[in-house]
Amino acid sequence: MSGHARAILVANQKGGVGKSTTVAAVAEMIAAAGKRGRRVLVVDGDPQANVTVEDLGVTGDRGQSLAQTLQFGAPLVPVRNVRPNLDVIAGGPQLAVVGAAAHLMAENGIDMAANLEAQLESLCESERYDLVVIDSGPGDVPLLDTYLALANYLLIPTRDDQASLGGVERLAKRFWRARKRGASIQLLGVLLFDVNPRATKRNEEVFSQVSEMLEGSGTTPFDITIRSAPAAAVDMRSLHRTAGELVALANDERRSRLAKLREKQSPSRAMWASDPSGLAADYQELVRQIVARLMKFEAETPVQERVG
Ligand SMILES: Nc1ncnc2c1ncn2[C@@H]1O[C@H](COP(=O)(O)OP(=O)(O)OP(=O)(O)O)[C@@H](O)[C@H]1O
Ligand SMILES: [Mg+2]
Repeated sequence: MSGHARAILVANQKGGVGKSTTVAAVAEMIAAAGKRGRRVLVVDGDPQANVTVEDLGVTGDRGQSLAQTLQFGAPLVPVRNVRPNLDVIAGGPQLAVVGAAAHLMAENGIDMAANLEAQLESLCESERYDLVVIDSGPGDVPLLDTYLALANYLLIPTRDDQASLGGVERLAKRFWRARKRGASIQLLGVLLFDVNPRATKRNEEVFSQVSEMLEGSGTTPFDITIRSAPAAAVDMRSLHRTAGELVALANDERRSRLAKLREKQSPSRAMWASDPSGLAADYQELVRQIVARLMKFEAETPVQERVG
């Protein structure tokens, strides 16, 4: 993608490694960052639609708009103001239909990546988005290749088990193949997700394995890891709140529990996590490191009037 906005693709060919959770948390934090908040568009490129439905709580159109764009170059229709400064192109099962027909389309000269890129650029121009964050599913290779062909950056979350690291390795190969075919996508970094921050030995070992896989890409894993937080994970999905939003909710809940106790009523429990602030702090630091890396990349390859 060229122009004012840049697009970050979040991908890993293994499922359940934190792609959607990370897309929602990062997009919401960047959009909400006070006066310096940017206009952000989340593109849910996954037929499962987890970031649309579960993470952000949007009903959406079952991926209809995105599917029409990929197939016919139709204009993208965002769901607006999902959060302040944050719009969403919904995902859903319509995308699986497109993925399955990708081969036929290519044979008939339909270029899904070119269709999506043109419509994204035009939408970013008219809506003044600064950042596009694309979520992707673990399975659909034609869709993944489409996103790799047009995104500017790739962020790869992974758990530390061998199967997830295998997903990183497979994706790294697709990334290099996309570059060989002329894509300008750059590797922003690999993110360790759902780790025990105290398991320093293990984490170091995983860091060095990942660094080896990334050899020649000019990037390193992110220093920050996302801590294991199973209770907060349940809350995020059931309440449709991101890690950052959960903190405010936990404070509200603490206040209302105290009030109920004072009135000698039994407090109800809406959340499982008592303190999601550590998890939110991990994402805050991740956002800081993402922005720093974007600025570094963009200083090296300036693109017309980019805002850092
Ligand atoms: N910090 C955390 N610690 C532990 N589990 C988490 C954490 N954050 C989210 N989860 C849970 O991990 C699971 C996988 O997360 P997520 O859906 O974001 O992964 P994904 O890579 O998008 O999966 P898919 O490949 O199916 O799209 C979810 O059940 C989610 O609720
Ligand atoms: Mg997902």
